[in-house]
Amino acid sequence: MSHHNRVIEKIRSSVASLYPEIVDIRRDIHRHPELSSQEFRTTALVRDYLLDIGLKIEHDFLETGVVALLNGGCRTGEKDLVGLRADIDALPLEEENLHDFCSVEKGVMHACGHDMHTAILLGTAKVLSEMRDELPGDVLFVFQPSEEKAPGGAQPMIDAGLFRTYHPSAIFGIHCFPYLETGKVAIREGSLMAAADELYIKVHGEGGHASSPHKAADPILAAAHIITALQHLVSRVASPYEPAVVSISSINGGNATNIIPGTVSMSGTLRTMNEALRETMHERLEQTIQHTARGLGVEAELDIVHGYPVLYNDPLTTRAVHSAALAYLGDSGVRECELLMTAEDFAYYLQHCPGTFIQLGTGRGNAEQGDTLHSPRFDPDERAILTGMGVMSYAAWSWLGR
Ligand code: NI
Repeated sequence: MSHHNRVIEKIRSSVASLYPEIVDIRRDIHRHPELSSQEFRTTALVRDYLLDIGLKIEHDFLETGVVALLNGGCRTGEKDLVGLRADIDALPLEEENLHDFCSVEKGVMHACGHDMHTAILLGTAKVLSEMRDELPGDVLFVFQPSEEKAPGGAQPMIDAGLFRTYHPSAIFGIHCFPYLETGKVAIREGSLMAAADELYIKVHGEGGHASSPHKAADPILAAAHIITALQHLVSRVASPYEPAVVSISSINGGNATNIIPGTVSMSGTLRTMNEALRETMHERLEQTIQHTARGLGVEAELDIVHGYPVLYNDPLTTRAVHSAALAYLGDSGVRECELLMTAEDFAYYLQHCPGTFIQLGTGRGNAEQGDTLHSPRFDPDERAILTGMGVMSYAAWSWLGR
């Protein structure tokens, strides 16, 4: 048996024996979800567990969240460091599942699987700590708060000195992916997830009697033209080879049949997959809105709130994780991930440190279950904990031993 196979078998058996304990932890976190930046109970739980298995907690970068270090014993001289990250916050949703471990917090639910991520990373920490004497480097465990709420928790941790204190050569993250069966992971090299920006548009006209539109400046008609004109951004500005989305998803103005209102407000989202196109789209949004408004005798303002950037999986580390996942799960366990137009603040770490974001299959192969992310019935298959712990442990190990 090769050295690598021996490590894999060791991880596999450790993962299997820890599984019941990690399921219990996941259910405990699930029962007590906490909103972004309020993850005090979860933070205490994570700290206690990590201290208990002998990890060092050296820094509290933010009020919630935990960063801990595992020192591997097996290499002398300059030691390599790999980062593993889980997000720990929940969503403002009322759970509709009927488990005995349902959320006891009214209107708060782990509907994005961050309870799974947290439990999986705790399990990974235990698996690797049990093998620390042979571990060919150090592992940094990043339990990050506030992924669900802008500006996120990643950038504040970086601002607070995460990468000034630690210099990992790679960082890996994992996310539940209910569109893929349990037991598999999906991986993609290059851009994986979109930059997501919020758009707020105000159209200022001049109100008046609806029977005499020539004496008013109608912001409703102008808003309709603006919405239509914005469609050319995706069809005529973005290259056909570049995915992009512009959606206007709210429109408010007027409240009577016979009054032209003074103002219309709209909001929406812009999703792009590369930072250059993102910038171009910002300029062209502004131009299109201004020119359309002016041509129709009204004024408009556009406010763009910058969201998370494009999530870019560095090719070298992504190939290393891909090989590790193949070695651990076999050929049928690894799939190429499609592009995702959702956004993730893991993207900020990848602006400073190469790495990869892995999608973890948590589906039961039945699309009827309604268990999409951010649904009140989101219900990941817990057996994915086995896959997640195994892949994270072995990816870290094989990166350090490369
Ligand atoms: Ni999430």
